[in-house]
Amino acid sequence: MVGILMGSKSDLDVVRNAFDVLDSFGVPFKARILSAHRTPQEAAEFAENAEKNGIKVLICAAGMAAHLGGVIAAHTTLPVVGIPMVSEPFKAADSLLSVVQMPPGIPVAAVTCGKAGAKNAALYAVSILALSDDELAAKLKDFRAKQREQVLSADAELQEELRNR
Ligand code: RP5
Repeated sequence: MVGILMGSKSDLDVVRNAFDVLDSFGVPFKARILSAHRTPQEAAEFAENAEKNGIKVLICAAGMAAHLGGVIAAHTTLPVVGIPMVSEPFKAADSLLSVVQMPPGIPVAAVTCGKAGAKNAALYAVSILALSDDELAAKLKDFRAKQREQVLSADAELQEELRNR
């Protein structure tokens, strides 16, 4: 089980990309809207109870002063992946630095901002779970093989188009 937290309902549309990836691998998840600043007690409780609730990896999406991943990581030893959300007025510069700049001792693995980050956070969670799940590891290898085929097929189409110019 993967635990997904986001700081606001305004993050949900982007975070749904992580839901879709986990669904495609058949990985169950629990998702909550909890904020490091607005609901600090509930966020801390979620993190403290995560391990006993069967969660193996946590994904935290937050924008602006994006402290959610760091606060969650402070309350659990489970791996935490942070998604910096694009938000005003500094786009994602503030959230990216907030997610990346963890003090030594409390790590948060940062992926890129927004939609690509949400997808990669889910894929990273899958790769962690795949370490102890052969079936999932096989699905991940299959995903990579299909991705390779798609790129090579697009390249073949391009080559054909260029030949026919
Ligand atoms: C963060 O502040 C949230 O993660 C969100 O990305 C950002 C803005 O939140 P809202 O004002 O849209 O609720 O805590």
